[in-house]
Amino acid sequence: MDKIVALCKRRGFIFQSSEIYGGLNGAWDYGPLGVELKRNLKDFWWKSMTQLRDDIVGFDGSILMNRAVWKASGHEATFSDPLVECLLTKKRYRADQIEPQSGTVYHYWYQRIGKGMWNSFSTALAAGVTTTPSPVEFAVLVHKGKPEASANKVARQYYDQAGLPAEFEIKPTKFEQVENSTAFNPENGAQLSEPRVFNLMLKTYIGAVESEDAITYLRPETAQAMFVQFKNVLDVSQKKLPFGIAQIGKAFRNEINPRNFTFRSREFEQMELEFFIKPGTGPEWLDKWLEERLAWYESIGIPRAKIHVLTVPEKDRAFYSQGTYDLEYEFPFGIQELEGIAHRGNYDLTQHQNASGKPLEYFDEETKTKYLAEVVEPSAGVDRTVLALLCEGYDEETIKDEESGKEETRVVLRFAPRIAPIKAAVFPLLKNKPELVAIAKDIYKTLQPLLKVAYADSAAIGRRYRRMDEVGTPFGITIDFDTLEGAKEASTSATGKPIEVGQKDTVTLRHRDSMKQERIAIADLPAYLLSKVI
Ligand code: GAP
Repeated sequence: MDKIVALCKRRGFIFQSSEIYGGLNGAWDYGPLGVELKRNLKDFWWKSMTQLRDDIVGFDGSILMNRAVWKASGHEATFSDPLVECLLTKKRYRADQIEPQSGTVYHYWYQRIGKGMWNSFSTALAAGVTTTPSPVEFAVLVHKGKPEASANKVARQYYDQAGLPAEFEIKPTKFEQVENSTAFNPENGAQLSEPRVFNLMLKTYIGAVESEDAITYLRPETAQAMFVQFKNVLDVSQKKLPFGIAQIGKAFRNEINPRNFTFRSREFEQMELEFFIKPGTGPEWLDKWLEERLAWYESIGIPRAKIHVLTVPEKDRAFYSQGTYDLEYEFPFGIQELEGIAHRGNYDLTQHQNASGKPLEYFDEETKTKYLAEVVEPSAGVDRTVLALLCEGYDEETIKDEESGKEETRVVLRFAPRIAPIKAAVFPLLKNKPELVAIAKDIYKTLQPLLKVAYADSAAIGRRYRRMDEVGTPFGITIDFDTLEGAKEASTSATGKPIEVGQKDTVTLRHRDSMKQERIAIADLPAYLLSKVI
């Protein structure tokens, strides 16, 4: 993971937000290559949903919505995580993510008996002081087999915080064994507070006055606008059930503990589909969308074998869900959710119909009845998928440098061509040969309107190839002396056509993954490349 994070910064995929001011936890910026990767991913999702299917229409809702939406959806009351706080460092954690721990718990106390005078257990006993004034008590968990001294070290931090003098005696008053306790901070063994409910929505005020009436939230999911506008979209698109509404956009959650690079952020993007269906057909559509989505991930280079499908047990499902599959990817930091596919029943439409008083029912021409549609929702994270693509694509191999003959490590991002930030790089073999440069520039300008291409003329050709491998560019096009003088050998071109000895206007086409080089006629380049990246 460290190598991927370093590569992301070095080559301009992802930077920490507000870096020069020390950053902002849970927010990230996408650099020149990251934004291309992310855009290609979103474009391909959009195309898969709204262009390649007849039963889905696109939508783009606002981030700010009437607060009534969040009341009706249940987010204001229940979109929360249980939060615990470390009593020593004041750092906050999600209570449900605290790993149970076993070990010895050491108890301590101290007491201020006057200005600059302190008691610990033993000094207090010696002085005949019992528990007045009331002592401050705390406990520290030390994992099995670790010595008391490590508990004393943490206790010292408590005493330092309380301003106790350095010579103050550190001695536990008692100890006990615990098994699978979630009451202690796994990072330092200090006690955690009791869990309390923490709403994840980021609150803001609309207008000039920061009053209760002006409160709303940055949306925590894109979904709600699609439920609220269900009727409008249905009327204008004249779709019949089943049909879907697709949206890509930002969502915000005040996550207690953003972590694992971009995986859990406070600002992120979602690609969400609300697929409206006839009542009773939920389980069938849930399974169909599972298959669709697995095939889609495969088509962007994330193989099925790397995605774990979790049938979420009822006790762990969102309260509105009648069935959920989580699609989890094998990230380097563990198997974690990429996308959730949930059967939300008619919960959302019911809530918004009841709260707004506006009918959101569907009139079924076949049965001549009105009812509320149900919904199956495949909801994917853009940032998490970008991260999965980076993790899946990252590879290192030892190769022999073509020029020096020395062994070196080749870092390569094996992106599927359709999502690669740069599709092809054009290289004149030598930059001081005007004939080569002229042709290279001409090819570059011809390809530029069709796909994202790069032009690179400095450094040895091997180095230029390596730099493009590292950012996942699938094709290299080298204009060399055979281009000018004619091919020295007969071969079969990348398109399958023959290249004859002496044939001019051909270039070397280098494939990133295999490093295989073949010739191709310049005239065939646009069609060939387009067919590979679509
Ligand atoms: N509308 C349903 C919904 O929002 P969710 O499981 O909470 O469901 C859907 O979120 C997807 O959004 C997740 O599978 C994940 O990919 C992405 N996501 C959620 N919270 C995120 C966060 N804090 N940072 C990055 N991505 C997140």
